[in-house]
Amino acid sequence: HRHLLGIANLSEHDIAFLLDKADEAVHISRQRHKKTSTLKGLTQINLFFEPSTRTQSSFELAGKRLGADVMNMSVASSSVSKGETLVDTAMTLNAMRPDILVVRHGSAGAAALLAQKVACSVINAGDGAHEHPTQALLDALTIRRARGRIARLVVTICGDILHSRVARSNILLLNAMGARVRVVAPATLLPTGIERMGVEVFDRLEDGLADADVVMMLRLQRERMAGAFVPSVREYFQRFGLDARRLKAAKPDALVMHPGPMNRGVEIASEVADGPSSVIEEQVEMGVAVRMAVMEALALPQNAEATP
Ligand code: CP
Repeated sequence: HRHLLGIANLSEHDIAFLLDKADEAVHISRQRHKKTSTLKGLTQINLFFEPSTRTQSSFELAGKRLGADVMNMSVASSSVSKGETLVDTAMTLNAMRPDILVVRHGSAGAAALLAQKVACSVINAGDGAHEHPTQALLDALTIRRARGRIARLVVTICGDILHSRVARSNILLLNAMGARVRVVAPATLLPTGIERMGVEVFDRLEDGLADADVVMMLRLQRERMAGAFVPSVREYFQRFGLDARRLKAAKPDALVMHPGPMNRGVEIASEVADGPSSVIEEQVEMGVAVRMAVMEALALPQNAEATP
């Protein structure tokens, strides 16, 4: 079985193939009758151990638009609350013969672990601070549709890089596609050795934004900061928050992105999040299309070209 565990396993060709396929899925999703039968007869289980609004609902809609039978496992009310482990939970579901298992978990490597155990395709919907590959693909699709390309664009990622699987997957994807990636963050929210991932590091937002084509803002992941540095909201917004004044440093037609969930007034001001440069809603729409493309590519044998 083929899996999508991270962007790290994908070539530039694989990424372009999935983005082209997702463009077709946008077309299907914009029709009044949105349903196809490409995954008819297949069973998709969404297994989310961490909260989600966008990822879980878009995987569900994506599966339904492709004609799959989709089941959302409600982890909070499952036997996980009685102490059943991740692997035992997955093996129980595996015995019901799903074709696709979509997994979100708080631990890095959780999806890769399950991929070795179950007899179906596994898609990583976010594993700890490791990877969130479909988020990076939907961000790339949003950029490519707005700008016509990804190569040579200057993309500035700002915020809690340390805890962000979105940042990791985006850095890997954007570098693979030839973009120039910058990161802006307080030193305490940067992973050591981040430069080795091929990014330029800035500690002042204004410097990182200069002539940027794309600005991606990230949420402070307080739930992953137990005991560590937690800046005050006011202090953080003053130095790293994006408002209309600061955005002027970027290119006049720069795209403002945010993977969500947003904390308005913490990392981004409403005037920017809801302003003319924002493509945050487009990102959500592209999320359904990208997940359709990924599931089709993994589940259908004739798509042997996409072998993540
Ligand atoms: N971007 C993202 O993963 O959002 P959710 O946590 O709401 O799925």
